[in-house]
Amino acid sequence: MIDQFAQRLAAWQKQHGRHELPWQRKGAYATWISEIMLQQTQVQVVIPYFEKFMQDFPTVSHLANASLDSVLSHWAGLGYYSRARNLHKAANIVVSEYNSEIPKDLDSLIQLPGIGRSTAGAILSLGFGIRGVIQDGNVRRVLSRLFCIDGDLSKADAQRTLWKLADELTPQSGSDARIHTQAMMDLGSLICRRTSPACPQCPFSNDCQALQRGEVSQFPQPKRVKQRPDERWVVLQIINEDNEVLLMQRPMSGVWGGLYTPPIGSSLSEIGKKLAIGDVLDADYQGELMHAFSHFKVHLEHYLLKIRSNDRPALGEWHSLSLFQKGLPAPIQKLLLNKDLL
Ligand code: ADE
Repeated sequence: MIDQFAQRLAAWQKQHGRHELPWQRKGAYATWISEIMLQQTQVQVVIPYFEKFMQDFPTVSHLANASLDSVLSHWAGLGYYSRARNLHKAANIVVSEYNSEIPKDLDSLIQLPGIGRSTAGAILSLGFGIRGVIQDGNVRRVLSRLFCIDGDLSKADAQRTLWKLADELTPQSGSDARIHTQAMMDLGSLICRRTSPACPQCPFSNDCQALQRGEVSQFPQPKRVKQRPDERWVVLQIINEDNEVLLMQRPMSGVWGGLYTPPIGSSLSEIGKKLAIGDVLDADYQGELMHAFSHFKVHLEHYLLKIRSNDRPALGEWHSLSLFQKGLPAPIQKLLLNKDLL
């Protein structure tokens, strides 16, 4: 094990770590919200979303009492909407089963939807200031380099090793749990970066096994992700005589679950059949944009069709875009609002 690891790490964090992030030292609720937002999204992107979210849902009860639609609309642009659905579900459980107090123990936290072991560790330490062990992507990278852990780090045996190391490196007591967790995150994101790590500035450069072997760039071994082939989605913006747009709610499971979009299909005629509108081929092509999900890309082809009121399809809801308060996926907002039609 590395000599005096926690003490040296804390000393480094105090001098070089991040101390001004808006969710720091704001309690367990703020930690929880920020950790969920930060799971797949970068700090600079998260900050304005976090601030607006905390302003509109300042406590777990506000979040539980809000409609899922309004929570999803705050999430529009962050992606991975199941995070928002789970947050809302978990807030309701905290209110109904825990008297609106976020539980302070690992077992209860990991029972809540969307909270895994690492997020629970972050809530305990950063939120409550008690011992909590984390193992997010940053920490995994640091540990895999310090101890030359190779292979696929998501596999069970690597996971056991990583959790054991993370646990052993976390002080039992007597040190500031907040500093230790933030320090692990900061070391990973500021020094032990995925590309171009700043090894000369690392407080553990003499301890790092990958650096001693000259193999930092080989750890962690890149994950092989199964790539789904790119897709082409036709997005049909239908406008009625009142300048309202037809929006449909997506199924809760799958991409953009629970959000609202214009009709989407693989072709105009497929959409026309589904909505039973005959003149769908009169739609005008508006342009396209590419959107990357984590595991595949879609080419969104945007068409516009103006219809008369008596041709209205039976499915979906008509809305004036400027008044629409529910969640629209960010690329769809971009398609719809970039036009000066509305
Ligand atoms: N990434 C995940 N959690 C974080 C935090 N609390 N601060 C900065 N980056 C993070």
